[in-house]
Amino acid sequence: MIIAVDGPTASGKGTISKELAKHFDLPFLDTGLLYRAVGWTLREQRGNADNPDDAVKACAFEGALLDEPGLRSEAVGGLASRVSVHPEVRRALDKRQKDFAYQPAGAVLDGRDIGTVIAPDADVKLFVTASSEARAVRRFEEMKRRGEKVNFDDILADILKRDERDRSRVTAPLKPAEDADLLDTTDLTIGDAVQQAIALVNAKI
Ligand code: C5P
Repeated sequence: MIIAVDGPTASGKGTISKELAKHFDLPFLDTGLLYRAVGWTLREQRGNADNPDDAVKACAFEGALLDEPGLRSEAVGGLASRVSVHPEVRRALDKRQKDFAYQPAGAVLDGRDIGTVIAPDADVKLFVTASSEARAVRRFEEMKRRGEKVNFDDILADILKRDERDRSRVTAPLKPAEDADLLDTTDLTIGDAVQQAIALVNAKI
């Protein structure tokens, strides 16, 4: 069974995907980490994220980099969003994601284009959304908990900018697959969102 989970940043898709993988005993891949690893490597190489040649050079990162906690920072997320615009970068990361998706054990993948590009014939496709305000509140609380200095308006502006970039890019833009089930988590606790996601998967299998 392949479960594709797509959606914008801070929609809850990461937690939902991890819990689905646990519940259905499937291997899990957070594909955002691959783009983040490219952003991280590019920064180390002092490359320009908007230059496709620099960005593609940064795709040759070691697998161990995916365990680097710094990949989760906002700054690296912003770089990931910029490098992910380049078709060359998406192509360089394509095989790794498809191999993971189509392994015999099945898989859960979370990202932006899993249901549309990486695994268009996935058994279950979820598109997880939430209002930009709700997502900014979640990100704000999460960063505050980590003890980071935070400003709500900056976070909201950053989310809107990232959404716009992810939705408007020409190659593999963020959008629901035609046959995706939508899950709006704006007014749900994360526990309820996970339960609804499990119910949506059960209804498909
Ligand atoms: O999900 P996460 O915030 O870790 O992703 C970081 C960035 O990587 C996103 O803003 C998006 O631009 C890009 N991304 C992508 N396709 C994916 C996963 C992430 O373009 N499948």
